[in-house]
Order: sequence, then structure tokens, then C-alpha cells
Amino acid sequence: MSDWMQNLQKTRYVMDTLLLVSFMIVSAPQSTGVPGHEWLSLLFIVPFAVHLLLHWDWIKQSAKRFSKKITAKERFSLVWNYLLYLMMLLATVSGFLVSVALLPTLNIELHIQDFWSKIHHDSATLIMPMIGVHLALHWSWIVNLTKRMRVKRAKA
Ligand code: HEM
Ligand code: HEM
Repeated sequence: MSDWMQNLQKTRYVMDTLLLVSFMIVSAPQSTGVPGHEWLSLLFIVPFAVHLLLHWDWIKQSAKRFSKKITAKERFSLVWNYLLYLMMLLATVSGFLVSVALLPTLNIELHIQDFWSKIHHDSATLIMPMIGVHLALHWSWIVNLTKRMRVKRAKA
């Protein structure tokens, strides 16, 4: 594999690890406290955006690939990524709509509706197993890259 491709894979691996850790922190408001959860969720947008940027080529081609002949697993993964994106959007938007710390600090007062609280709770709860499936679909990549990174470290 070319050096450029190998470096991209390594960057993706490191950024995916960072994304997973930040996702776990964001998903546990009980440990960070709700104000901490809100600011950390705002920060979480950065590794998430980087994740999408690192797969920008895939995203650009995804609509075209849908009508092409691809395997059932690829098709499933394609639909799953779209659903995941929508769920993430819903969790983030509903999160802002139930904000009790971040928006009031910025002098934006909201009347919090139970509807959005429920949407936030449900979407955040659904994302967890959905990320599990997303990771399972890339399991062989994760195992391969982990092995390669370990060999590199052992050699260094
Ligand atoms: C905790 C959150 C997430 C983690 C740990 C994660 C991890 C991964 C991993 C390990 C891969 C395959 C390796 C790679 O090329 O980087 C990948 C690919 C990808 N992920 Fe995620 N991901 C997360 C969330 C998301 C979300 C919410 C989306 C929403 C659209 C998404 C979209 C993609 C896309 C488009 C690809 C490349 C296409 C593919 O092969 O499926 N990821 N992700
Ligand atoms: C991907 C992003 C996010 C995830 C995965 C997430 C996850 C969660 C989870 C799991 C809970 C506990 C829910 C419960 O047990 O009822 C929660 C609560 C909460 N989140 Fe988030 N959150 C995200 C983004 C945000 C954002 C951006 C804000 C506001 C700026 C926010 C504000 C809140 C508030 C105020 C609560 C406690 C009140 C309530 O549940 O209605 N969240 N979040």
C-alpha cells in the first residue's frame, strides 16, 4: 500500500479512536453532569465532522453507488450510515432544544418541551446500539489496523 494511503488509514484509526472515546463521554451525562454534557457535546461536533471529512469521497459517491451493483453488506452499510447521520442530527438538535446550561449562558432562553426531552432521550439511546452495528460492519478493518499499529509500535 502506498505511504499516502497508509498514512490516511492511520489518521482514520487514531481519529476513530478519539471519536469513540468522546462519544462514550457524551453518552454518559450522569458522570459529567448535565452542564458538562452540553459543552462536551458541542465539542464532540469536531471529531464527528473530522470523521465525515475523512470519508468525504465515500459520502460524495454514496448516492451514485446506491443504484449500482454492490453487495448486500455494502448496501446495508450505506443505508445504516444515512440512518446514523439522521439520528446523530436528531440527538444534537433535540439536545440544543432541551439545553439548561449552554444556551442560557449565551442568553438564549428556551421553553423546554417534554416532546424534545423524549426525542433527545430516545435518539441518544438508539444511537448506542446503532454505533455498535456500525463498528461491527467494519470489524475486520478495526482488527487489521489494530494489528498493523501494534507491529509498528513493536518495531519502533
Ligand atoms: C462513535 C462514533 C463512530 C465511530 C467510532 C465510527 C467508526 C468508524 C470506523 C471504524 C469506520 C471504518 C474505518 C474507517 O475508514 O475509518 C467508519 C467508517 C465510516 N463511518 Fe463511522 N463511526 C462513528 C460514527 C459515525 C456516524 C454517526 C456516521 C454518520 C454518517 C459515520 C459515517 C461513516 C462513514 C460514511 C464511513 C465510511 C464508509 C463506510 O465504510 O461505511 N460514522 N466509522
Ligand atoms: C450526539 C450528541 C448527544 C448525545 C449522544 C447525547 C446523549 C444524552 C443522553 C444519553 C442523555 C441522558 C438521557 C436520559 O437518560 O433521559 C442526555 C441528556 C441530556 N442532554 Fe444530551 N446528548 C447529545 C447532545 C446534546 C447537546 C448538544 C445538548 C445541549 C446543548 C444536550 C443536552 C442534554 C440535556 C439538557 C440532558 C438532560 C435532560 C434531558 O434528558 O432532557 N445533549 N443526552
